[in-house]
Amino acid sequence: MVETDLFDELLEPKRWSLADGTMLLCGFALQGEAVLLNDLKSVIAQSPLRHMVTSSGFAMSVAMTNCGKLGWVTDRKGYRYDALDPNTGAPWPVMPASFLALAAQAALEAGFADFVPDACLINQYKPGARMGLHQDKDERDFSQPIVSVSLGVPATFLLGGFERADKTVKIQLNHGDVIVWGGASRLRYHGVLPLKAGHHPAFGLCRINLTFRKAG
Ligand code: SIN
Ligand code: FE2
Repeated sequence: MVETDLFDELLEPKRWSLADGTMLLCGFALQGEAVLLNDLKSVIAQSPLRHMVTSSGFAMSVAMTNCGKLGWVTDRKGYRYDALDPNTGAPWPVMPASFLALAAQAALEAGFADFVPDACLINQYKPGARMGLHQDKDERDFSQPIVSVSLGVPATFLLGGFERADKTVKIQLNHGDVIVWGGASRLRYHGVLPLKAGHHPAFGLCRINLTFRKAG
């Protein structure tokens, strides 16, 4: 029946295989969104967003914080994972159950079973903020995927190859979209173009990205 197909279409999030090991799950984070946003607020209240400095001394345009056992940090000494928030001196906020469940479900949907992240990097983009092309390679175990959740204002994600100079594909990431990359794609370069002006009812002019990793 046409009505049933239409109904299924509306309910079922769209999944797109972008490369071997890379999957885009459209709207995957929308279910349970209210709890997720509440938990996000609580994490940010404990460990506030801040502009970290790279080893070359430049402040990043993206404001960051973390939750989970390990947090990704950068300062004049370089990049690393740390169990303590350098700003508060305390452990990073505990990873909320809603975050863990979303990350595990998205990973499974993309073909990676039993994903248990110990780090969630929270990136806040305001208009003009960007993330240059890079690989996620500070983690111990590359058999574990990256699960990346987009919230708020849409952004253009760049999915590249295995060399910085390789061609990139542009992917629009909307509120609730999740992109997972692992397996043969685990070390692909990726980045985010400068955020364009926009508005989201819950996030205002911002985009928030949650990047889940098994770091330790
Ligand atoms: C990142 O690679 O750390 C962030 C990606 C994103 O904001 O979508
Ligand atoms: Fe990354």
